[in-house]
Amino acid sequence: MTLRLLQCSDFHLDARPHDDPRRMEVVRQLVQRLAPDLIVFTGDLVELGPQDADSLRRGRDLLASFGCPFYALPGNHDVGNKLSIGRHVVTEPAVGQWIDILGNDRFVCDVGGWRLIGINSQITGSGLARERDQLHWLQSALDTELPIALFSHMPPYLYQCDENPTGREAYWQIDPEPRQHILHLLDSPNVRLVASGHVHWHATFNHDSLPRLWCPACYSVVHEPHYPPGGNVTGMVLHTLDSDWTYELIADEALSRPQD
Ligand SMILES: [Fe+2]
Ligand SMILES: [Fe+2]
Repeated sequence: MTLRLLQCSDFHLDARPHDDPRRMEVVRQLVQRLAPDLIVFTGDLVELGPQDADSLRRGRDLLASFGCPFYALPGNHDVGNKLSIGRHVVTEPAVGQWIDILGNDRFVCDVGGWRLIGINSQITGSGLARERDQLHWLQSALDTELPIALFSHMPPYLYQCDENPTGREAYWQIDPEPRQHILHLLDSPNVRLVASGHVHWHATFNHDSLPRLWCPACYSVVHEPHYPPGGNVTGMVLHTLDSDWTYELIADEALSRPQD
């Protein structure tokens, strides 16, 4: 069986007037046209999640209304920033709220001859009890002979597995120490793909042992001087998983929110 998996990310829904239903209608039409077997949403469903449960519920209902099975992972705007950012950081109540509304903050499933795994990247480095729990869970989830695709909001790293940036560049990836724990677990030829959101840019990296993909946002493009050229799109990614992994970028300017 060939699995057609639509990854979408970074809706950033909120209650502001410019959060247009038109943008979500474009998402709906794309889902209908592409008719994927499964949707994986990789975080930032809403803009101000910890204070805005109503938007989280609206985002959940929106995803459910597409008529396609889905898994949703939390992003920093849903449950808080990684601890090292120092402001609006992830908290246990915020993760609990996400789980109450969306059902879970991680997933594992076997479908189409692949094992799909989603993790909550926001708790990495948090020291919360659920971070340790997730690592144990991830270790057992990775124990399979099936090819594995792993999804998260933050990518484990941007360019180098040992990168340790400072300042603004440190916003975009899992911190070095928790990253090493995760990469240690991912060190298997069965891991064929790590796909993330968060960066609001599209890129793929196939030059090292861990093929990685950045899914663009359905919201805005973020311009960082170090980003690889050509990824300045809004859109989604249609993954095709069979004996190999291939993908198609579904770029659509209509997925940009209007400027204020
Ligand atoms: Fe985002
Ligand atoms: Fe994010």
